[in-house]
Amino acid sequence: MRILVTGGAGFIGSHCTLDLLKGGHDVLSVDNHSNSSPESLRRVAKLAAREAEAVEGDIRDRAHLLSLFRRFTPDAVIHFAGLKAVGESVEKPLEYFDNNLVGTNMLLSVMRETACRNLVFSSSATVYGTPEKNPIPEDHPRGALNPYGRTKLVIEDMCRDLAGSEAGWHIALLRYFNPVGAHESGEIGEDPRGTPNNLMPYVMQTAVGRRPHVNVFGTDYATPDGTGVRDYIHVVDLAAAHVAALERLDSFEGAEAVNLGTGRGYSVLEVLAAASKAAGKDIPFKLRPRRAGDAAAAVADPSLAKTRLGWTAKRGLGDICADHWRWQERNPAGYGA
Ligand code: NAD
Ligand code: UD1
Repeated sequence: MRILVTGGAGFIGSHCTLDLLKGGHDVLSVDNHSNSSPESLRRVAKLAAREAEAVEGDIRDRAHLLSLFRRFTPDAVIHFAGLKAVGESVEKPLEYFDNNLVGTNMLLSVMRETACRNLVFSSSATVYGTPEKNPIPEDHPRGALNPYGRTKLVIEDMCRDLAGSEAGWHIALLRYFNPVGAHESGEIGEDPRGTPNNLMPYVMQTAVGRRPHVNVFGTDYATPDGTGVRDYIHVVDLAAAHVAALERLDSFEGAEAVNLGTGRGYSVLEVLAAASKAAGKDIPFKLRPRRAGDAAAAVADPSLAKTRLGWTAKRGLGDICADHWRWQERNPAGYGA
């Protein structure tokens, strides 16, 4: 297949591009590098022994996007491009609406114009708001706790409305739980700009000496050890789920949501213990009050992914920490090293 990937230079996009190339698909990535480096796809090319076409561009540039679609004639699109920092979205909501909503609207309109109606979209477990129960099935009520989450809700609705307006659309709304880890080569991985907001990159940057200690946000949750519980999914498993979704996209009538998680939750203290083991050293941490907006626990019900995509996560927390650490140790300053 010919796959146009938006945001292919990013954390998840680069791992997915590698899987697509290894599977024999042709890939064109369009990325404005607002949160990534072109180096990631250069490394992907080495690992795959073949290249994706990497175009620098912004998905809000409709004329450019249209010219790429006319030239490349994709069979399907995987749409990763977007801003994803929750705190930043609270400070700069209009930037998030512009980038994520206007960008997606441009993409969908170009897809409609060029009759490319196959789409895999990066949604998020954030659309469940504060979970009412765990594990979380796809029919759990949706809600948004911040502007970032609102963009995911609205994009899901945009996709449903578009698919309802004309026949022939096949859209998978993949709701990721907590993507972490790195390719086992240690060559590609997550390289957040500035101070990481998410737990795993913060833990690994602390292990490598870039941060003095990890702040454990909240010790009084109704969880076994009092710290927050999440469903951490290895990015290589996540990439495989995208390839599985592409291969079964014909069976998606309109827009359908599927959770991507393992179904198993780990606490912050369990993550710290597993990361310390992988790094072979104690990782310093301090117990802190809860972070605003955090739920006690969020764990996927992954059963629909199994039936709809024939996919289940293969890697556990030990693999996640070993692979993430390999990437961090070999690239202490990320792609800037
Ligand atoms: P990332 O920031 O590493 O990748 C996103 C890529 O999109 C970056 O390379 C960035 O430069 C590019 N981009 C952003 N806006 C663009 C625009 N207007 N035009 C072209 N390129 C643009 O993030 P990621 O972790 O790889 O996430 C990919 C997608 O998955 C995002 O939509 C994100 O919201 C979603 N998601 C991520 C997580 C997570 O924890 N990483 C969880 C749930 C959902
Ligand atoms: C966060 C976002 C979510 C987004 C997801 C993936 C919030 C409230 N939610 O999810 O919308 O989809 O990232 O990008 O920001 N923790 C610490 N110390 C830290 C960082 C985190 O103890 O320095 C704890 C948190 O309290 C939580 C767990 O670690 O219990 C995981 O946090 P994080 O990695 O930020 O992911 P989420 O909050 O689940």
